[in-house]
Amino acid sequence: MSEKPNEKLDDCMLSFVEKISVHHTLPSLLDLKSSFLGKEGLLTALFKGVAGLSIEEKKIFGSKINELKIFIEERVLQTMQSIKIESINSKFQASQVDITIPAFENKIGKIHPITQTIDEIVKIFYKYGFDLRFDREIETNFYNFDALNFAPLHPARGMHDSFFVKIPNETEGDYLLRTHTSSVQIRSMFNQQPPFCFLSPGRTYRCDMDRTHTPMFNQVEGVLVEQNISFANLKWIIEQFLKEFFNGMDITVRFRPSFFPFTEPSAEVDIGINVGGEIKYLEVLGCGVIHPNVLQNCNIDTTKYTGLAFGLGVERFAMLKHSIYDLRDFFDNKKWWISHYGF
Ligand code: DAH
Repeated sequence: MSEKPNEKLDDCMLSFVEKISVHHTLPSLLDLKSSFLGKEGLLTALFKGVAGLSIEEKKIFGSKINELKIFIEERVLQTMQSIKIESINSKFQASQVDITIPAFENKIGKIHPITQTIDEIVKIFYKYGFDLRFDREIETNFYNFDALNFAPLHPARGMHDSFFVKIPNETEGDYLLRTHTSSVQIRSMFNQQPPFCFLSPGRTYRCDMDRTHTPMFNQVEGVLVEQNISFANLKWIIEQFLKEFFNGMDITVRFRPSFFPFTEPSAEVDIGINVGGEIKYLEVLGCGVIHPNVLQNCNIDTTKYTGLAFGLGVERFAMLKHSIYDLRDFFDNKKWWISHYGF
């Protein structure tokens, strides 16, 4: 290094610039910093040299050393920051994370109460040995009505308020959104040999809308085809299911004779709820022994096998269990809903 103070300062500055310009890690940068600004550092030595100068020289030289000190500190700080950024980037690259993807929104969500209810129903019947069958929502008249023994002009067809659908180039007759899950009985039993028992949950459609009806609603169909079974077995299964589903609620179960084209005999099932000492009955499902015509339509030997079936409306079960007043609440996506009903 030159003997003149100014030249010493220039040398010091050049040496620093040269050394900081190479690639650094954090430890090498800290070493570099202390080799200039540390106790034994080059700049510190220059500071010490100021003592031997005249007052005039001290002023000029002192302030120049100070400027260099500030310059060194700033460059070290900048380099330190770029080392940190570089190391963060290389960590992300190594783990194949794309840091440009926007962060996930933190959403709060729950399983919809209708899905929860279907799950509960399925779980109970699963214990009794029922498996699951699903099928299409756009059906033909044949599977929705004809094969289920609805006579061509039977008024029950009208009671279903069907949504008919036009499908271009289709040849299977009239199409409609299925009005019940009973159509899955035919789809599933067709050319299958018993014994079998299954459950078919799914969406169904009827043109109806008020506090207790929506155009889309969910049903669960149950079918059991076996030898040596009777209405008594159906009664037992349904009673067990209802007691288990409404577990903890004080309910009674009542079977009433009814009519469905696809079952004979047929019944509707009511549950009785004790309201202030008086039992109030509410219809919850339909059931019966599958009509021989239906089994024959599916090529099942009616001299050997008996079929039992039931169908229930899921929304009605959810409403009863959770004391929901208006069925339309299920579908309006209000946020207060979850906490209001405690799902
Ligand atoms: N499909 C009937 C309806 O939607 C419900 C039903 C009643 C299903 C009796 C059945 C049954 O399987 O046996 O109204």
